[in-house]
Amino acid sequence: MSAPNDLDAFFMPFTASRQFKANPRLLTHAKGMYYTAHDGRKIMDGTAGLWCVNAGHGRETITQAIAAQLNQLDYAPALQVAHPKAFELANRLVAMTPEPLQHAFFTNSGSESADTALKIARAYHQARGEHERTVLIGRARGYHGVNFGGISAGGIANNRAAFGPLLGDSDHLCDTHDLALNGFSRGQPKAGGLAMADDLLRLIDIYGGHRIAAVMVEPVAGSTGVLVPPEGYLQRLREICDAHGILLIFDEVITGFGRLGTSFASDYFSVTPDIMALAKGLTSATYPLGAVMVTREIHDAFMHGPEHIIEFFHGYTYSGHPVACAAALATLDIYQNEALFAHAASLSQQWEDGLHSLADCPHVIDVRNIGLMGAVELQPIDQAPVKRAFDAYLRAYDKGFLIRTTGDIIALSPPLIIEPDEISQLFQCLRDVLHEID
Ligand SMILES: Cc1ncc(COP(=O)(O)O)c(C=O)c1O
Repeated sequence: MSAPNDLDAFFMPFTASRQFKANPRLLTHAKGMYYTAHDGRKIMDGTAGLWCVNAGHGRETITQAIAAQLNQLDYAPALQVAHPKAFELANRLVAMTPEPLQHAFFTNSGSESADTALKIARAYHQARGEHERTVLIGRARGYHGVNFGGISAGGIANNRAAFGPLLGDSDHLCDTHDLALNGFSRGQPKAGGLAMADDLLRLIDIYGGHRIAAVMVEPVAGSTGVLVPPEGYLQRLREICDAHGILLIFDEVITGFGRLGTSFASDYFSVTPDIMALAKGLTSATYPLGAVMVTREIHDAFMHGPEHIIEFFHGYTYSGHPVACAAALATLDIYQNEALFAHAASLSQQWEDGLHSLADCPHVIDVRNIGLMGAVELQPIDQAPVKRAFDAYLRAYDKGFLIRTTGDIIALSPPLIIEPDEISQLFQCLRDVLHEID
């Protein structure tokens, strides 16, 4: 297939679009670990799309489930009526997530899951009569999608800069990245975790613990460039939240569904949140779907008043879309039948070794990893931040590998079906690229 001859109309998301339109990179097919580009070249997917194609591309059982669902029931509203697969999927998710999470609310994306989680947190406190608890705490460098709640709690400057004023009553913990303390850590960094989590005490001093509704963090920060929490950090956050009646929200949009070799990061770190935001791997990106898991206590706080009155004034036209639910159920079957999370866990040592073998390459100032996530941070070019990593991105693409860059950080997160020889090829490509770029 040739490239379309006019690229002008599409206003592209998060893209250097003038560079792109001058030199387009169009993907036309995908199967397993590989895309096919419009010029016929095979491109290895080093990023599982956008951290989401966990089951690999072109999975026939998911395609069949989607087609069958479209034929049987293409759509049913989720307001005041429903369809069986939404309940089936909610039950599957409850069974899979940590025990305290007992209810699922459906959205269509990670951004909607993040905003829904924040709204549930505030509304829960309102429902219990704690009207003062409205402050939402995120973290510097956090990414929770692009809607107003998510960018207010999020801490990536460029994602916030043009859109103010943002949500009032929101603030940020310090991030967990300290190169001097924890550079080139393998897996979880050892140092500083408790002190970093204690930054929440600073915010409690400012706002009062009784005014903070929730703390929302990614267990491992993904989009900002894979920041792995130091040992003890998440446990300490949990303790402080508990001591002050603050809800802890884990945004597991990236870390959910096997990315760390466990079902969820909550399992990996043995820390259970009160609310968990999900999307991406839930359908292996075959169909847009997100979910917000909450405890029974949170859910039940809404269940009072006259029975003909709506309890929670929030939802989307496509909440629990039947086709999305069918896609998710088929995806969860693949994860289970192929033991894909265990497969990811079994490869994480090779992943770590391969990634850290790049430490001696030119420009590299940090390497970090956990599960099948990894990052190589480059020294930015003076006066031209981002350029070096973008050059690496373009060169890797020319060599047939799709990687991802954020600032001057290369981020990697392959589909969980990756095999050992493909991991070796990916890192060999990066080694070559790092030696070639200026
Ligand atoms: C942690 C996290 N939350 C939310 C989102 C937003 O998801 P979406 O792009 O589906 O809205 C992302 C996307 O990368 C994410 O990484």
